[in-house]
Amino acid sequence: MTNNNNNPKYQALPEDAPPPYAGPQMPAPRAGPSNYGATTAPAGSHVNAPVYLVGTNAPVQHRYEHGMILIPVRQPVRMVCPYERKEVTTTVERHASGKAYCAAAFLAIFLPPFCFLPFCMSSCQVKVTVIGAAGGIGQPLALLLKANPLITELALYDVAPSAGVAADLSHINTPAKVTGYRGDDQLPAALSGAHLVVIPAGVPRKPGMTRDDLFNINAGIVKGIATAIAKNSPKAFVAVISNPVNSTVPIVAEVLKQHGVYDPKRVFGVTTLDIVRANTFVGELKGADSQTLSIPVIGGHSGVTIIPVLSASGHTFSDSERETLVHRIQYGGDEVVKAKDGAGSATLSMAFAGARFANSVLEASVLKKAGVKECTFVKSDVVEGLEYFSTVVELGAEGVAKIHPIPNLSEYERKLFDAAVPELKGNIQKGVDFVNKS
Ligand SMILES: NC(=O)c1ccc[n+]([C@@H]2O[C@H](COP(=O)([O-])OP(=O)(O)OC[C@H]3O[C@@H](n4cnc5c(N)ncnc54)[C@H](O)[C@@H]3O)[C@@H](O)[C@H]2O)c1
Repeated sequence: MTNNNNNPKYQALPEDAPPPYAGPQMPAPRAGPSNYGATTAPAGSHVNAPVYLVGTNAPVQHRYEHGMILIPVRQPVRMVCPYERKEVTTTVERHASGKAYCAAAFLAIFLPPFCFLPFCMSSCQVKVTVIGAAGGIGQPLALLLKANPLITELALYDVAPSAGVAADLSHINTPAKVTGYRGDDQLPAALSGAHLVVIPAGVPRKPGMTRDDLFNINAGIVKGIATAIAKNSPKAFVAVISNPVNSTVPIVAEVLKQHGVYDPKRVFGVTTLDIVRANTFVGELKGADSQTLSIPVIGGHSGVTIIPVLSASGHTFSDSERETLVHRIQYGGDEVVKAKDGAGSATLSMAFAGARFANSVLEASVLKKAGVKECTFVKSDVVEGLEYFSTVVELGAEGVAKIHPIPNLSEYERKLFDAAVPELKGNIQKGVDFVNKS
């Protein structure tokens, strides 16, 4: 153990920083390829976890392979893992035979994706506001967000009482401080300083309700919330869950434009549930691990505007399997509405999907993790004549970093695309008109 008072990253750790992911272990020295020192990676370790040379701030390049962390060495070096409160050094030496060995004390590496957490916690305040937090989606979503150690404040707002939800969640021993807000007067405080605002406010679809009924109620709710965001947290990332997403995203954008604070990179329609469903249904059908699947679902977020790109799944399907899957992904919401028999729509699966999306935004913007991708409904020019479209989007520190083009489509998927475009165009226009003509 050595002190490294010259390492500002180490010094920046706050007194109350959490302990490392796991207790110290002493991995046995392992052989690695020539010129590499190797140490067994602790369970849950991650390739992006930094290692620094003692006395410098220079990160040491390393690779992660087959459960080993491989570190290039040409001479004995000492390294510091900045996660440990009591600094840990690792000595890497080349073996006389020419193979490099690592006699490691321990590389205390956090669970992915939170491997940069101690750095972040020392300097960042990450406030996430959930609007509609007392609702069917809002409550489980807030629970999942409370479990995310990147969040330092979780602000729960609703027009209905949310103090109980906040009190309940506040007893969970994760870092986020939970605050409850209710009613118009408290909305500015709920939004002020927010890094990310997630909006599951509104009414869910009930049996017998037309799309227009749903639109008329939720459009007004979302417009009001967007106005408050424009005034109180204009730089926040905004993740819109409230349906119809194809119209509510343009509503948010138009309101922000009217206030001169629109940044198209920061406004997202959350379509993640379609991807979650596609992965689940295909995994079930093909006996595959659905967690390893990453099926793009592009277009929009209702009925025929949902375009599952099953041809990119790595599996093959008969015509009837494909028909059934596509219908189930496009109308999965109906399955839940019917099963709940009037008691609401998808809430728990949506909360899971919403938390996954929020976590991705935080990984990219707070942890600055590279290569975070989600399908999301954003301002896009991948389809001529459509202002918004969902394809795979790479997220970055400022929101949308790269919009991927439409993947190769099969002939069948091309027909889905052709059916989606006019419907989507109408949905988008409806949202734009709601703000500009009302
Ligand atoms: N994007 C998706 O994939 C997806 C999936 C399922 C549901 N949804 C949509 O999410 C929304 C919420 O669904 P739910 O099942 O949680 O409904 P819910 O009725 O259970 O909860 C909605 C909450 O929003 C609150 N609310 C209403 N107006 C508000 C306002 N002006 N400000 C703040 N809060 C307000 C309500 O008080 C309620 O607590 C619906 O629009 C639904 O269609 C989206």
